[in-house]
Amino acid sequence: MSFVPRNLLVTGGAGFIGANFVRHWLARGGDGRVVVYDALTYAGNPANLAGLDADPRYAFLHGDICDEAAVRAALEAHAIDTIVHFAAESHVDRSILGPDEFIRTNVLGTHALLKAAKAHWLAGAARPHRFHHVSTDEVYGSLAPQDPPFHEATPYAPNSPYSASKAGSDHLVRAYHETYGLATTITNCSNNYGPYQFPEKLIPLVLINILQGQPLPVYGDGLQIRDWLYVEDHCRAIALALERGRAGEVYNVGGNAETANLTIVRTLCALIDRRLAAAPALRAAYPQSPAARGGRALELITHVRDRPGHDRRYAIDFRKAARELGYAPSVSIEHGLERTIDWYLAHAEWWRALLGRDYAAWVATNYRR
Ligand code: NAD
Ligand code: DAU
Repeated sequence: MSFVPRNLLVTGGAGFIGANFVRHWLARGGDGRVVVYDALTYAGNPANLAGLDADPRYAFLHGDICDEAAVRAALEAHAIDTIVHFAAESHVDRSILGPDEFIRTNVLGTHALLKAAKAHWLAGAARPHRFHHVSTDEVYGSLAPQDPPFHEATPYAPNSPYSASKAGSDHLVRAYHETYGLATTITNCSNNYGPYQFPEKLIPLVLINILQGQPLPVYGDGLQIRDWLYVEDHCRAIALALERGRAGEVYNVGGNAETANLTIVRTLCALIDRRLAAAPALRAAYPQSPAARGGRALELITHVRDRPGHDRRYAIDFRKAARELGYAPSVSIEHGLERTIDWYLAHAEWWRALLGRDYAAWVATNYRR
């Protein structure tokens, strides 16, 4: 019989994908609890969860996943039967500048969480439970143009401190299933984009820089390929994995949208130019944007030094998720980019608040500038 998740602990729920998942899960109905457990690092933002306090099913706990005792207390206090583990240091460039935090959170933090879960669910008579680990396609390394897409048995070959730390966490999750019988599932997914994404990542960074008339940094030749996944499709895939995934299994999740970075950047330029051309109010709101000054956003594209160890291509074979979970992406890259632009235009106060915070410091120390 398949597992029925009831009370969820969502680690990293104040981050980009976690917050989208919490909203997605609550919107599906049901009376189980959703408890966000988040350390509120630079990437964790209470504004991502705004409005949820009114929902009696929702609670927020400020905590670090490395704090095993605090995690155990949370599992006990909220009768948690399902952990959905998003909490991580997630940005490749930051991992190149400072890997230590990635090892601490992604490897040691995941291990602390696994220990807490094992102690809570498996000591004495085992209780029904599920530990879902959200991971990345980056653990598989880089593909050549003609290589087949990553599948679940592709050997791991991580190239950045970030992907190495995620690979380490995946192995620990697997080991806790094989050795102790913890009921785990893992999803390895491709590049997400959509609402609430911190503007250090390519799509929100480019979008916001176009609006502000700032350079659009393209690493190297810009011909690196990613398989772009609209965040809502990812959230659906995770929900399916929780409900239909088999314990001990790994599922790859992709967006069926392999696209070169430069194409993404040029498409955003064209779409935003078009929006501003059609709306005097937008031109007034963003006077520095090229379209408001009679120019074109393409002029902002600036090729900068490449990311060290930069993976050339990612692509995902998600046939196992399609077969076993009934997963298929539903949002095309064209539609997803339009929706993302809509959201950032409608929530300028959300991203403007971030620009004043850690973002300015980050941009100032970015190793490429
Ligand atoms: P994010 O950086 O936006 O959010 C990370 C969240 O984790 C933040 O809320 C942060 O406060 C929290 N956090 C960090 N360290 C913590 C700690 N020690 N204890 C508790 N909370 C902590 O990340 P994201 O982009 O939403 O990614 C979420 C997960 O999905 C990560 O595990 C990432 O590796 C994985 N993933 C992301 C993508 C993507 O494209 N963004 C793709 C594949 C997989
Ligand atoms: O593939 C999944 C991964 O996608 C996740 O595991 C990571 O958490 C997530 O950050 C993302 O990693 P990437 O490194 O692919 O995402 P990022 O948005 O940083 O970069 C996307 C591509 O764009 C990559 O080839 C680097 C390039 N890039 C990025 C930035 C920020 C630029 O050319 N210029 C930029 O300014």
